Amino acid sequence: MHIVRAMPSGLKVVVSELADSPSDAIDRAMSLVPMEVPGPGPSEVVIAIASASVGWVDLIMSSGQYQHMAKPPYTPGLEYAGVVTATGDQVEHVRVGDRVLVDGFLAGPRSLGAYQGYGGFATHAVAPAAAVHPIPGTLSFDQACNLLGNYETAYHCLIARGQIQPGETVLIHGASGSTGLAMVHVAKLRGATVIATGRSDAKLAVVKAEGADHVVNVRAEDGGQRQFRDDIKALTGGRGVDVVADGVGGDISLESLRCVRFGARYLIVGWASTPAVAPGRGQRGVQAANTLPTNLIMMKGLDVLGCPAAITVQHDPRKRVERFAEVWRWAENGLVRPHVSHQFALADFKDALRAKLRGDVIGGCVLHP
Ligand SMILES: NC(=O)c1ccc[n+]([C@@H]2O[C@H](COP(=O)([O-])OP(=O)(O)OC[C@H]3O[C@@H](n4cnc5c(N)ncnc54)[C@H](OP(=O)(O)O)[C@@H]3O)[C@@H](O)[C@H]2O)c1
Repeated sequence: MHIVRAMPSGLKVVVSELADSPSDAIDRAMSLVPMEVPGPGPSEVVIAIASASVGWVDLIMSSGQYQHMAKPPYTPGLEYAGVVTATGDQVEHVRVGDRVLVDGFLAGPRSLGAYQGYGGFATHAVAPAAAVHPIPGTLSFDQACNLLGNYETAYHCLIARGQIQPGETVLIHGASGSTGLAMVHVAKLRGATVIATGRSDAKLAVVKAEGADHVVNVRAEDGGQRQFRDDIKALTGGRGVDVVADGVGGDISLESLRCVRFGARYLIVGWASTPAVAPGRGQRGVQAANTLPTNLIMMKGLDVLGCPAAITVQHDPRKRVERFAEVWRWAENGLVRPHVSHQFALADFKDALRAKLRGDVIGGCVLHP
C-alpha cells in the first residue's frame, strides 16, 4: 500500500482560451492560478514538479497553430521532471521520493487521453503510472525534461526517416533550438559531419562547442537571410550535403535546395520561421504555407521526407519502441545530455515564454515551479 495523500494545494498556469498568436496568448490568455492537488487513483502518480521544459510547441499550441490542440482550460508544459509525492496502490515501479520524468506522449497537453490537462507549468501534476520513469543516468531535472521530445524527434528525423550514415554530411538549420541541438548531438553520435546554421554568432559558438563541425551564420546585414550556398559548397568540396534537416522553413528551405548533392534527402522537421502557416485560435486551413519548387526537387533527384515524430506514432505505435529504447540508452550511458541555457521561476512563466519566442534560448528553457 503506497498511498500518501498529496499536498492539498499548489499553483498552475492555465491557458483559458486559444489566442490569435503565441504573443497574444502570453499577454491575454495565460494566468497563474491556485490548484487543488488530488490524491492518486490506483494506477496514478502525483509528482512535485522540479523542472518543466518551455517549448516551441507550448507557444504555438496556445494559439491553436500546432497540429494537436489541447482543450482549454489546460496547463502548458509538454514535458516535466520532479519527485514522486504519492502513488496509487497498483504502482510498483516508482516510489515516493523517486526522481522521475514524465513522458509527454502519455501525459500533459501533447497526450491524447485523460491527463491532457496536467502540464508541467505547475507545482504538481498527476500522471498515469505508465508515463512515469526514474530519470536515466545522471541527468539533472532540467536535462530530464528536455530529453524525450527533442531526442526522439532527432532520432525520428535523422535515423528513422533520414537514414544518415557515418561519413555523410548533414546540414542542420535552427541548430541552436531544442530540436536542432538534439539533432546535432544525434548526427555526431551516428558519425556524420554536421554543418549547423543560425542567425547569431554567439549562439552558434555554443552549437560548435556542443559538437557541430562547422557553423554558418545565415543572417544578412539587414537582418534578413543571406545567400549561403557558396559557404556550403566550400565546406563540402563543391559537392553539396547529403542530408538537410530543416526545422526553420521559409527562405532557408529555398536556399537549401542549392546546397545539396544530387539524390540528397531533405528532411522537413518544422517551420519555426513561419508559425503563421495556420491562422490563430485553432482555426484550420492554410493561409500562407511554405512551398518548395518542384523543378529543383526533380532535377536534383531529391527525396523530400516529412518527419512528424508524434503523428507517426499515432498512426503506428510500434514506431516508438526502438526509438524510445535508443534514446533511453543514450541517456543512461551519458551519450546525450540536453543543453539548457535558461531557467525561470514558475511565477515568471511569461518571461520564459517570451525568451523562447524571441529566440534567446540555446537548447532548452525551463521553469522551476
Ligand atoms: N518533426 C517533429 O516531430 C517536431 C518535433 C518538435 C518540434 N518540431 C518543429 O521544429 C521546429 C523547431 O522547434 P524547436 O523546438 O527546436 O524550436 P526552437 O527551440 O525555438 O528552435 C528554433 C530555432 O530556429 C531558428 N530560427 C530561424 N529563424 C527563426 C525565426 N524566424 N523564428 C524563430 N526561430 C528561428 C532559431 O535559431 P537561431 O536564432 O540561431 O537562428 C531557433 O533556435 C518548430 O517548427 C517545431 O514545431 C517538429
